[in-house]
Amino acid sequence: MAKGTSANAGRGVDHELAAGSRAHYEDATYYTSTYKKRIDDVQYYVTLAEKHGGPVLEYGVGNGRIALAMARHGVTVTGVDHSEAMLADLRTRLADEAIEVQRRVTVKQGDMRTLALRKRFPMVFCPFNTALHLYTRDDAERFFARVRSHMDPGGRFVMDLSVPQPEDLSRDPNRAYHAPRFRHPTTGEVVRYWEYFDYDRVRQILFVSMMFEPVSDASKGWSTPLAHRQYFPREWEALLHYNGFEIEKVEGDFHGGPLDRTSDTMVWHTRLRRGFKP
Ligand SMILES: C[S@@+](CC[C@H](N)C(=O)[O-])C[C@H]1O[C@@H](n2cnc3c(N)ncnc32)[C@H](O)[C@@H]1O
Repeated sequence: MAKGTSANAGRGVDHELAAGSRAHYEDATYYTSTYKKRIDDVQYYVTLAEKHGGPVLEYGVGNGRIALAMARHGVTVTGVDHSEAMLADLRTRLADEAIEVQRRVTVKQGDMRTLALRKRFPMVFCPFNTALHLYTRDDAERFFARVRSHMDPGGRFVMDLSVPQPEDLSRDPNRAYHAPRFRHPTTGEVVRYWEYFDYDRVRQILFVSMMFEPVSDASKGWSTPLAHRQYFPREWEALLHYNGFEIEKVEGDFHGGPLDRTSDTMVWHTRLRRGFKP
């Protein structure tokens, strides 16, 4: 099995980043099982959507972890995502919902940096690190232009990102970080699991390689790459400002706590900045 992504350093940059923004979302069953305990953000965004009123636009809707909960609470949601696998799973899940819930969800496959919906929303949101797949300034600027074009004049744009953690960024790229073996929800086999972390401090991208190896047959192991841009709080604040957003508040968790030195997450609440000229 290939080792950490550092071994792939000679390969085309675009290929590596494309894989890093897609591979982890190819297996929706594994995704759902891995993040099943992540529920605080779901409640947070549902409450927010109820407050602002629908319809809402979600960038990186995935297989509907948040969008389905919103629709069950009566909010109309349009979800954008580039992953065929995640959207196929969302459609399957949707088919099991009540007809009125099904009617509230619209799915659009496309790239969040380019897709134009020709519709405006009172609330646009981009949860759970989806924006960490904006790897360059150009990616971020194109995305922000799309967000602006989809917001009502008085609308809100809310999103959350992980705060870069120095210990993750300074890990030895050749060291394997092991976790307990577990039964893989898709294959049904017990697998060994470990990760490599390789931080590119120039591009500010953390490359994670997730390694899976069936206990019964190590030769059938595979690796899943994930690439996450690391946005430092003051950097993200500047990007929002210079791309036309006024920051209303920043929180450090999904319970309204402040963003401080102990925070793992930053939740940015913004609206369109008056007088901004792109
Ligand atoms: C961490 S998942 C979040 C999914 C869902 N919002 C949730 O909270 O479970 C990030 C999602 O962003 C999508 N994504 C990544 N880059 C994208 C892009 N350039 N355009 C559209 N979707 C993208 C992925 O396919 C994935 O479904």
